[in-house]
Amino acid sequence: MTRAHRTILVTGGAGFVGSHLATLMKRDRDGARVIAFDNLKRRGSELALQRLASGGVEFRHGDVRQAADLAEVGAFDLLVDCSAEPSVHAGYDGGADYLVDTNLGGTARCLEAARRHGADILFLSTSRVYPIAGLRGLPLERAGDRLDLPPTAAGPGWSHAGIARDFPLDGARSLYGATKLASELLVHEYGAMYGLATVVDRCGVLTGPWQMGKVDQGFFVLWAARHLYGGPLSYMGFGGEGLQVRDVLHVADLHALIERQLADPGRHAGCTYNVGGGRDLSLSLRELSALCGARAGAGRTVGGVADTAPADVPWYVTDAAAVQAATGWVPTRRLEGIVEDVFRWLTDHRKLLEPILGMSGGHRTGERGQESEG
Ligand SMILES: NC(=O)c1ccc[n+]([C@@H]2O[C@H](COP(=O)([O-])OP(=O)(O)OC[C@H]3O[C@@H](n4cnc5c(N)ncnc54)[C@H](O)[C@@H]3O)[C@@H](O)[C@H]2O)c1
Repeated sequence: MTRAHRTILVTGGAGFVGSHLATLMKRDRDGARVIAFDNLKRRGSELALQRLASGGVEFRHGDVRQAADLAEVGAFDLLVDCSAEPSVHAGYDGGADYLVDTNLGGTARCLEAARRHGADILFLSTSRVYPIAGLRGLPLERAGDRLDLPPTAAGPGWSHAGIARDFPLDGARSLYGATKLASELLVHEYGAMYGLATVVDRCGVLTGPWQMGKVDQGFFVLWAARHLYGGPLSYMGFGGEGLQVRDVLHVADLHALIERQLADPGRHAGCTYNVGGGRDLSLSLRELSALCGARAGAGRTVGGVADTAPADVPWYVTDAAAVQAATGWVPTRRLEGIVEDVFRWLTDHRKLLEPILGMSGGHRTGERGQESEG
């Protein structure tokens, strides 16, 4: 990144990640303008408006598919692109227009706006750029309550430590993953051709308070909410036993990393990093059930559906060694602490959240597990 950022545009700024980044960036920058831009498509994003206002963040209702909406924002010198339809199952029933227009077309509109203002760009990408067949082909074994790789196994871009940036990219990855990978390519083009400083963070599962967890995205919060508020849960896919594994990163730890990246322009411009909690912050759905049951004071009966949906993957753990070496960053929040943080938020805001995250929240069909994430 090239200069002090006095005006920051956060697209998707009322979403889970965007609202955290916007308020924390505003908190840490005396006198800076931070603008959260969002069309409030995601149910629950409207709840962010009060938090944004009390944090001094300006809110603009707008759509990244519309160049005119972005033009109305005026000049900015840093774009943090968090707007997306973030579900790996999106686009398969009822058409892919919204997904592609937002996740790819929206990125293109944002990049044009950034070019006009000479702004730096931080793009939130996803582990879902990696192909499904490649991830399913890993030599996984059952190890207690989870699937895992043997300690000495390794191959191109993968090892016991997780999936590194150079994991092979050939193969289908879901429409969601495809739109994010295509967006990454555009981001790099704008960086190289227009001299904009760009950073791409390919994130594994992110979680924390104010994530509006639903059936197809945000399993960690959905799982905790169902333990607290009630409602059905099922392990979906891979035999229906809940052995599939993800690593999890608290959104505050993502923010800490991003601040390091923004503070060291020469080092990170043009870079792509795999970002996530890593092995120490990985867990299976069964293990998450145990953690949530312990915190809630009672376990839950969780159903099982053996069939695996086409976009599901059994194991994704981030090998974050490259970003850690480049920044000195390490996640500070442990799994138990993340569970505690989410449960406390669910308890403190129950009246507000139960209509969205509980049984009445309209997220009842086929309560999926974490196969959809990242
Ligand atoms: N949450 C995760 O686990 C995770 C993991 C990897 C990558 N990511 C990426 O991080 C970013 C943020 O994800 P999130 O978890 O905060 O999702 P989110 O759904 O909470 O936030 C996305 C926001 O974008 C808004 N939005 C959707 N379509 C829009 C449009 N056309 N115009 C303007 N705004 C629009 C939504 O209303 C929502 O507030 C996304 O790019 C996602 O792909 C998230």
